[in-house]
Amino acid sequence: MQEIFDKANAVLAAINDAKPATAEELEAFRIQYLGSKNVLKDLFGAMAQLPGDRKKEYGQLMNTLKAAAEAKYEEQKNSGSTTQQKVDVPDLSAPGYSLPLGSRHPISIIKNKMIDIFARIGFTVAEGPEVEDDWHNFTALGTPKDHPARDMQDTFYISEDKHWLLRTHTSSVQVRMMETQKPPLRMIMPGRVYRNETISARAHCTFHQVEGLYIDENVSFADLKQAMYYFAQEMFGRDTQIRFRPSFFPFTEPSAEMDISCFICGGTGCAVCKHSGWVEIGGCGMVDPHVLENSKIDPAKYSGYAFGMGIERITMLKYQINDLRLFFENDIRLLKQFESAL
Ligand code: DAH
Repeated sequence: MQEIFDKANAVLAAINDAKPATAEELEAFRIQYLGSKNVLKDLFGAMAQLPGDRKKEYGQLMNTLKAAAEAKYEEQKNSGSTTQQKVDVPDLSAPGYSLPLGSRHPISIIKNKMIDIFARIGFTVAEGPEVEDDWHNFTALGTPKDHPARDMQDTFYISEDKHWLLRTHTSSVQVRMMETQKPPLRMIMPGRVYRNETISARAHCTFHQVEGLYIDENVSFADLKQAMYYFAQEMFGRDTQIRFRPSFFPFTEPSAEMDISCFICGGTGCAVCKHSGWVEIGGCGMVDPHVLENSKIDPAKYSGYAFGMGIERITMLKYQINDLRLFFENDIRLLKQFESAL
């Protein structure tokens, strides 16, 4: 008789000790103690074996057991751990989350626009390595070792013998194209360049350029001017004028610096053009015959022009951004302002 009571008390203790934490454990608990073939039913069955005077006591124990099982079940069902499991089951009919879309970087926007403008007058796009050798970055471009013009560009050398470096301009791609392809050549070379400069609002150790090269028979300075004029008008507006100032580059002869009339004030003078009416956008010139020779192109037969422009410079002018460092910080507050631009 005591055995029957002991068995029932053991089940009561098991119920009280149970901690069905996951949804699966809770369901197993329900089947065991509250389901249609639960353990308590067997215990109830044993009541018949008890003498009449102990039946009442046993019946109360059974009620306690049942109440304990129900209470434990409710308690665990409503506790965080098992409801959490329920939440994890995705509601497949719920509408999706809308993901915030990124936007193009202003440098990419202007780069693409430049590619687009030059594509319309027959320029294709060429690319080259950012880690360059001395030949393509300097020597082939008329700047042998110890030439004073090397000081124009502070260089990051990456080998002791100064053979390998980070390209200081995309003019290196000009050489690579002349070496590997036969004229006529008409291409632009957009890309990232590096210079060992102190970072400030107006200078950075890395920025982007678009180099241009056109080589064919009878290419003249007039062709260069026309291409630059076309570019300036497409980029900055139909009223834009251009101006060339004599300059020096080791790889062009003659060389020029190119200005455009200030598109902010129309040439009357403002803060952007420092009250001069003109803003500089790049360098250009006729490819030096020695540079053609270095790349095995016959200067007696072919001539060409080249130009180089800074993408940051043009982007700053176009969007009136006055600190170069902003382009490299990727602050979402700046980038978001270009969401609608392509
Ligand atoms: N490579 C020059 C620079 O980085 C820019 C340049 C000037 C490129 C004149 C040219 C050019 O092709 O003809 O400052």
